Amino acid sequence: MASIVITGSASGIGAATAAMLREAGHQVVGVDVAGAEVCVDLSSAAGRAAAIDGALTRCGGRIDALVLCAGLGATHAPEKIASVNYFGVSELLDGFKGALEAGTMKSVVVVASVAATHGEWEGSPLREAFLAGDEEKARALCAATGHAAAAYAASKHAVVCDVRRRAAAWGARGVRLNAVAPGAVETPLLQQSIADPVVGKATAAFIPPLGRRAEPAEIAQVIGFLLSDAASYVHGSLLVVDGGIDALARPCRF
Ligand code: NAI
Repeated sequence: MASIVITGSASGIGAATAAMLREAGHQVVGVDVAGAEVCVDLSSAAGRAAAIDGALTRCGGRIDALVLCAGLGATHAPEKIASVNYFGVSELLDGFKGALEAGTMKSVVVVASVAATHGEWEGSPLREAFLAGDEEKARALCAATGHAAAAYAASKHAVVCDVRRRAAAWGARGVRLNAVAPGAVETPLLQQSIADPVVGKATAAFIPPLGRRAEPAEIAQVIGFLLSDAASYVHGSLLVVDGGIDALARPCRF
């Protein structure tokens, strides 16, 4: 039985992943604002520190695998999206690194989004602020965009960069680190987008090339694969799990 920490475990993709891993006999320590083993708010540095402390205590200082799934969709304040979606991942990766090195599975999956692959980010001050760990600046720049969707895409793009730039150091310590990029998944987050007066109509109208949206369990299965030995040579990768959205949007860029 492995000890696996999952953020965002109370709903959607995180809940499906937690259920699947518990069914397989693992001990899951969920981290969420409510309805989890460790209840914290990942939008603040204090909440993130409490998440790390709480999960490490419950796991006895050794974590076998980690899934960072908690996130806010493009219906929230841009600065809060910045804090949860980027710093709620990056600071937890830093905080759990030692405990993962002591674990058995030594595998991490970060849930990004297909939105990470869209846009031009070369030389972007917003991306630089995220990657420099400057939360105040990243929040201010996200707020200045005035668009939650822009903050969402930036936070998800930066989080993939953060995963990939760790690949050398983490690989040398034997810990695999990958990201998944879902497209449209039937969860409360998607329902909030559909109900939103700005992005709702377009979100509801868009159907991925496979002809339907994903079920949370379909993303959970890919996360389970990446955590497992079946993916023992997959490291530093972004696995797009989007029913063909990315291929539709940019067939010749990959
Ligand atoms: P969801 O809303 O069902 O679940 C997200 C979970 O994160 C919730 O339990 C929520 O309480 C938690 N969370 C949010 N803010 C938090 C905070 N400040 N502190 C602690 N926990 C917090 O959403 P869903 O769809 O399962 O999303 C999971 C991940 O998948 C997110 O990172 C999202 O960006 C990503 N994603 C979802 C897509 C979709 O269509 N549903 C598409 C692409 C990516």
